Amino acid sequence: MLKKNIRAIDALEEAQRIAFAPFIFQTTVALRELGVLTFIFDRRLQGGASLEDIAEMTNVSEYGIGVLLELAESTGIVAINEAQKYELTKTGYFLNYDKAVNVNINFANDVCYKGMFHLLEAIKTGTPAGLPELGNWPTIYDGLSQLPPEIQKSWFEFDHHYSDDIFDEGLQRVFESNPKTIFDIGGNTGKFAIRCCHNNANVHVKIIDLPGQLSKALANANKEGFGNRVSGFEIDWLAPNPQLPKGADTIWMSQFLDCFSEKDILNILKACVAIMDTDTELLITETFTDRQKFDNAKFVLEATSLYFTALANGNSKMYPSEVFIRLIQEAGLHIERDISLGEYHTLFICKKSSH
Ligand SMILES: C[S@@+](CC[C@H](N)C(=O)[O-])C[C@H]1O[C@@H](n2cnc3c(N)ncnc32)[C@H](O)[C@@H]1O
Repeated sequence: MLKKNIRAIDALEEAQRIAFAPFIFQTTVALRELGVLTFIFDRRLQGGASLEDIAEMTNVSEYGIGVLLELAESTGIVAINEAQKYELTKTGYFLNYDKAVNVNINFANDVCYKGMFHLLEAIKTGTPAGLPELGNWPTIYDGLSQLPPEIQKSWFEFDHHYSDDIFDEGLQRVFESNPKTIFDIGGNTGKFAIRCCHNNANVHVKIIDLPGQLSKALANANKEGFGNRVSGFEIDWLAPNPQLPKGADTIWMSQFLDCFSEKDILNILKACVAIMDTDTELLITETFTDRQKFDNAKFVLEATSLYFTALANGNSKMYPSEVFIRLIQEAGLHIERDISLGEYHTLFICKKSSH
C-alpha cells in the first residue's frame, strides 16, 4: 500500500481525512442507522433523493440530514446530481450493502469505538486499557458471555464472519483422518462442534474453553440434540500451568491462537504436544497477514490487531505465518500440510515431531 509518488495535494487530503476519520465514521453510522443510504439507493431510478424528501422520511431536521450529507458528499459516500438530488456512490453502496463491511462497521462501532480512545495507554502498558469501557474483566474473553446483547451480537457476528465460511472445507480436512474424538480448543459457541456431529454420526467432540463460553457452547450443543456427543473441559490458558486431558485423535483450533501473545501460544502448543502421540493431528487455521491476495484484506487484519491491543488482552494480534511456523517448530511439532482454505485462511496440519 506504499503510495510514494502521491502528489502533495492528495497526500494532504488523505492526511485531513485521517484527522477527521472518526467524524466520517460516525456520519456513516448515523446515515446507515437512519436508513438514509437505503432510501437514496431505492430512489436511484427516480433520479435520486432530495434533502427535503430524506428529512421527511427520517423525521429528522433538514439541518441534521444536511450536515451528515455534506460530509458524506465531500468524502465520496454520496454524490449530488444536476437536479440537486443525492445518489449513492459505489463506496456508499458497499458501506450500506456489503456484508463484510457491515460486520466490520458494527464491530468497530459497538465493540471497539470507545475503547480505542485508550489505544496509546494500551500500547504503553501492554494492557487492554480500553476494556473497562465494556466491563471489568482481565481480558474480553472472560466477559464475552456477559456483554450487553447488542455488543455481544456485533462481537459474535464479527467472529463468525471470519470463520464460518471455511468450516465446510475445515470439516473435510478434519475427517480425512477419521477421528473418533476431536478437541475443539477455543470452541466458542459450539458451532464447529455441532457441525462435526452433523457431519459424522459417531464422532465425539470436547470443547475446551473458559467457563462462561463453555456453558453457552454446551447449551447450544444440547439444544441441537448432541448433548451425548459434545462434552466440555474448562480451561484458562492464562492461569499457571494449564493442562489438557488425554484422548484426542484430532485437535482443532480455529482463529484461536491469535488471541494470545507469542509466549502464550508456545505454552498452548506445548500443552497440546504433551497429550499427542505420533498419530494425533493438530489443525490450526488462521488468517495470516502475509498470506492475503489483496491489500484490503491485509489492512482489515492489521486493524483487527489493534482490537486485541486496546480491548481484548493487550498483547496479541493477527500474525504473519512465519511467527506461527517458528512457534510450531519450537513446541516440538512439524507442519505436514500447509493448505489454503477459502480466500483468506491458511490451515496447518501438524504432527508431533519424533525427536
Ligand atoms: C476468536 S474466538 C474463536 C472462535 C472459534 N474457534 C471460531 O473459529 O469462530 C477465541 C476463543 O478462545 C477462547 N479463549 C480466549 N482466551 C482464552 C483463555 N485465556 N483460556 C481459554 N480460552 C480462551 C474464547 O473464549 C473464544 O471462544
